[in-house]
Amino acid sequence: MNDRRIVSGMRPTGKLHLGHFHGVLSNWLELQKSYDCFFFAADWHSLTTEYADTSGIRESIRDMVLDWLAFGIDPEKSTIFCQSAVHQHAELNLILSMVTPVSWLERNPTYKEMQENLAAKDLSTFGFLGYPVLMAADIILYRATRVPVGHDQLPHLEITREITRRFNYLYGEVFPEPVALLTESPKVLGLDGRKMSKSYGNAIFLSETAEETQKKVMSMVTDTQRVRRTDSGDPDNCVAYSLNQQYLSGAQKEEIGFACRSASIGCVDCKKMQAKALVEAMAPFRSKRDELTSSPAIVAEILAHGASKAARSAAETMTLVREAIKV
Ligand code: TRP
Ligand code: SF4
Repeated sequence: MNDRRIVSGMRPTGKLHLGHFHGVLSNWLELQKSYDCFFFAADWHSLTTEYADTSGIRESIRDMVLDWLAFGIDPEKSTIFCQSAVHQHAELNLILSMVTPVSWLERNPTYKEMQENLAAKDLSTFGFLGYPVLMAADIILYRATRVPVGHDQLPHLEITREITRRFNYLYGEVFPEPVALLTESPKVLGLDGRKMSKSYGNAIFLSETAEETQKKVMSMVTDTQRVRRTDSGDPDNCVAYSLNQQYLSGAQKEEIGFACRSASIGCVDCKKMQAKALVEAMAPFRSKRDELTSSPAIVAEILAHGASKAARSAAETMTLVREAIKV
């Protein structure tokens, strides 16, 4: 058993934003230093909700993987691939589906919730109900012991553990039971003060230009109590500041705190300073992404290399599975 093995997937939803940057990606970056990491684009999981219009999925994978690479997810250290390129995910999914009681899937809290949230789509499909089974297959296919996930994915991981136990009980101890490595993602606020999310249209993307980022910061909400330029403000009530403070130096934060409270700086000038800090912090990422984008074959090459590595490990597991179930 390889207890340094980590598996995590992300559904390809396109370009990533600062919320991903501070949550999942910075966590992956840390993990790849000391674990044997398998990171993949969960495109079959995207199909569970996007099956009626799949036109955007390929491009979303490319955009997402470019962001991973530019951010520092390193194909020399981690295995980076696409779920659909390793057919064993589907094979194990099928076998696990035989031992998974439907009631476990029906009582999964995210099942009803997502159906309600995405009411415009018909999600009363077999595949959507089976989302957690495929996720279990993704994880135990590599006999991973740890899975970095956010709070929202904990119910899914619990089902993975239940399915693993049931498989092992029926056929012998083939799989280690994976545990969640809970990723504490700081809540990143978007331009309008709501949680940053692509669907709210309030996100700052890792792939946008410096000018776009600058313009977005200038449009951000500030302390709404501060109506006139001569009113004193409070950075703690300022959406712009809440997003940008992490890019400011200690001295800058102090300066802004004082200047805002004493009304000695206007919000426009203050946001210019904040935007500059954010843009500078993103500059290395942006140039790396531009460099990667200029060699169009690179993403496909990295994914192909990752898939062949993943497939080797997956094939070993499937040999054990077939021996265990004798089918
Ligand atoms: N369900 C996860 C999400 O929506 C994506 C995912 C698919 C995943 N397979 C996985 C995450 C395996 C961790 C491990 O974010
Ligand atoms: Fe926000 Fe700066 Fe305006 Fe204060 S001065 S409300 S911190 S933008």
